[in-house]
Amino acid sequence: ALSPPEASSLKGVRVLLTAGPTREPLDPVRFLGNRSSGRMGYALAESLADLGARVVLVSGPTALTGPSVDELVRVETALEMHAAVMSRVVDCDLFVATAAVADYRPERAAEGKIKKSSEELTLRLVRNPDILSEVAASTPAPFTVGFAAETDRVADYALGKLRDKRLDMIAANLVGAERGGFERDENALSVYWSDGSRDLPMMNKTRLAAELAALIAERYRERHV
Ligand code: CTP
Ligand code: CA
Repeated sequence: ALSPPEASSLKGVRVLLTAGPTREPLDPVRFLGNRSSGRMGYALAESLADLGARVVLVSGPTALTGPSVDELVRVETALEMHAAVMSRVVDCDLFVATAAVADYRPERAAEGKIKKSSEELTLRLVRNPDILSEVAASTPAPFTVGFAAETDRVADYALGKLRDKRLDMIAANLVGAERGGFERDENALSVYWSDGSRDLPMMNKTRLAAELAALIAERYRERHV
């Protein structure tokens, strides 16, 4: 393969990337999950590696074959993903959060299978830690890139997250009815940073990942000259 042009090279840059969904157990046989396939994250991990980065991928459960990265850490729950990331964050220069992390988990998983009894069942959920926010707030913080999958008001919410989580970049996409996003081969992204933005139009996720990786590399290198 041709080596990437200087401006988009990530040679020697240590990347930590989360991908896939998390599973929050209800009992030994059931969990709360989400529709993330992990495809965009895996493709991005490979694209960043193609640019010369050393990539550590922390992945929730997916049906994908392991991508060619330097280290693959498999986790299941948000708390496991949190622990895997926080123990490795000191060794990374660039953190990319593509994972669809469950915001809430059941307060406690039942020890045995929950049996069917009354007509209604109420689950009590508690908040999971926000991995991306914690990484961005750590010192020294790596260059941080977040994702925002939204069903509406994409730009508003994405810019809010960029600011509130103190991120360096955020990639936003519209999910749900008839659009790209989860469970699709194609996706489109709007990418924002503090003083700029770029729209990456609808294309297959492999190409989109390559374009996003190049854009991340460009912004990262502008910060680390
Ligand atoms: N994220 C994370 N840890 C969490 C929740 C989210 O690291 N517990 C990361 C995601 O990987 C993504 C970004 O934060 O890069 C935004 O996730 P999103 O779900 O869109 O935002 P939230 O802050 O959870 O807000 P909400 O779900 O209410 O829109
Ligand atoms: Ca969320």
